[in-house]
Amino acid sequence: MTQDEMKKAAGWAALEYVTKGSIVGVGTGSTVNHFIDALETMKEQIKGAVSSSVASTERLEKIGIPVFDANEVASLDIYVDGADEINANNEMIKGGGAALTREKIVAAIAEKFICIIDDSKKVDVLGQFPLPVEVIPMARSYVARELVKLGGDPCYREGCITDNGNVILDVHNLQITNAKELEDKINGIAGVVTVGLFANRGADVVLEGTANGVVKS
Ligand code: A5P
Repeated sequence: MTQDEMKKAAGWAALEYVTKGSIVGVGTGSTVNHFIDALETMKEQIKGAVSSSVASTERLEKIGIPVFDANEVASLDIYVDGADEINANNEMIKGGGAALTREKIVAAIAEKFICIIDDSKKVDVLGQFPLPVEVIPMARSYVARELVKLGGDPCYREGCITDNGNVILDVHNLQITNAKELEDKINGIAGVVTVGLFANRGADVVLEGTANGVVKS
């Protein structure tokens, strides 16, 4: 089974969590693209979606699923999204696609976070994947210096402007054993919009595509 087939299996497995008549929170990435394909089969039975990125919005609208502004929606039953890394506590690194802030907002609105992954995303310790931090452009150098004090090695993601008009610092060489604490510390640095650690609000259900089928945890 290829990596993409595992992503596809996880994406389609998430369909069983979609309730009729609901508005669905939809994340970003290649695994979510499979979920969007699956959602098309139910499009007459849902009200629509709230999306975490311009890319997913375009994909949803192309297949005729209405996309609502997050401000129009009081709550969402589920948010379905991928991850760049996830540990045994269902704490995640996200933001490889630079959509971390909107992902965090939609995740916060949702009752349940359904994380869809292939088997390459499970890790013992978070941090091998560089930790993305969305930063207001004028604070870039200051935030980078503060991240060095926390033991990281920040790297400016060249040519990347987020959907919110900000920049991304990818922090290398972290061994994250205290994800909730680190999330709070980085979010407390002036100029940080948000860090791509999803620990205080982790995943509620993980659907992992493997060579032996989809494993739920
Ligand atoms: C987007 O910013 C990320 O948080 C994605 O969830 C992550 O990059 C997963 O991507 P794939 O599904 O393409 O692996």
